[in-house]
Amino acid sequence: MSAPSRSPSPFSPLAEAAGASPFADRVMTEDDIPAVLAMERLACLDSAHAWSEDNYRSSLRSAYWTRVRTQPDTGRIIGVCVAMDGVDEMHLLNIAVDKALHGAGVARALLDTLYAFCREAGVPLLWLEVRPSNERALMVYRRQGFVEVGVRKGYYPAPGGREDALVMRLELKAVRP
Ligand SMILES: CC(C)(COP(=O)(O)OP(=O)(O)OC[C@H]1O[C@@H](n2cnc3c(N)ncnc32)[C@H](O)[C@@H]1OP(=O)(O)O)[C@@H](O)C(=O)NCCC(=O)NCCS
Repeated sequence: MSAPSRSPSPFSPLAEAAGASPFADRVMTEDDIPAVLAMERLACLDSAHAWSEDNYRSSLRSAYWTRVRTQPDTGRIIGVCVAMDGVDEMHLLNIAVDKALHGAGVARALLDTLYAFCREAGVPLLWLEVRPSNERALMVYRRQGFVEVGVRKGYYPAPGGREDALVMRLELKAVRP
């Protein structure tokens, strides 16, 4: 998906976080919720935008697609990704990465795992919503090839009112495995 020259050295701690380690992402469990909540609250520019315990509990109850990425030696959770499957499409509901590892390719690695799942399941399309104010997330999605296809007015709660959501779409055939 991205040129090899953009990846960190395969021997660096960042490379390990991003995907060069032998440790695969694993499915999230209820026991992971406290660590995920703590990690995500720190990761978000505005902690009010982080997912709640209820969001995670209901995602797990609904058997949505989930992955957490953990540090091999400590088991510490450094990233989480949740997606909901529909007919011929997946909806990326949330992704968050440990603040200390931002820019190290962890989100990219989690998304690669999601793309691999979609390909195996024969799912051609991924959708997501994102706050226009979340510039970091927008950069990540654009780098991945997501394109903006619409706006949902007043979709998110925001201080003093509501904030729109940008709707983005990725055609998996456009992503190199
Ligand atoms: C958004 C978030 C998940 C990105 O995670 P990350 O691990 O730092 O992202 P990555 O390092 O995998 O970056 C993926 C790509 O986006 C680019 N990117 C990441 N952050 C960037 C930034 N701040 N500015 C410009 N580009 C950026 C990277 O260069 C990389 O590009 P490449 O694949 O061409 O090398 C992380 O910032 C986060 O946890 N934010 C808080 C939670 C959140 O807002 N989630 C989104 C909800 S919609």
